[in-house]
Amino acid sequence: MKQLNTLIGQQLNALLENETNSVSNLSNAAALIFHNYGDVNWAGFYIYNADTKTLDLGPFQGKVACMHIQPESGVVGSAFSQRKSLVVPDVHAFAGHIACDADSNSELVVPIYRNGEPYGVIDIDSPILNRFGAVEKEEVEELADVLSRHI
Ligand code: SME
Repeated sequence: MKQLNTLIGQQLNALLENETNSVSNLSNAAALIFHNYGDVNWAGFYIYNADTKTLDLGPFQGKVACMHIQPESGVVGSAFSQRKSLVVPDVHAFAGHIACDADSNSELVVPIYRNGEPYGVIDIDSPILNRFGAVEKEEVEELADVLSRHI
């Protein structure tokens, strides 16, 4: 296994050691993320449903959220379909942003892969503008990498 460079990556890796239930693992990952980062109002997962071709709400912490997002819609769908992390300093300036929680002002979305195939995304929202940058992107990409072995 490749070396983990971030403390939160190491924590998640330790938390999920020998664990294989994806619902349990995503639930604890959402809690870890939500409580680790300050100024976060929502943290959780959207998981691709191949039958409906939608990204469906997965385990999360925060207020109730949109249940189904079309690939290519919003920040979530864009990150999923473009297969790249998106750091959005101001969601109101992002064309097509989906306002599930009116408190959100900035957002970070990172794709997750399972066996090399797109599986879904990690989505983190903040009420603060410009909350996420290169450091958080790198950390959350490491979390996605850890999760890819436990889903
Ligand atoms: N804002 C997201 C939708 C998901 S909520 O933030 C939980 C988007 O534009 O895709």
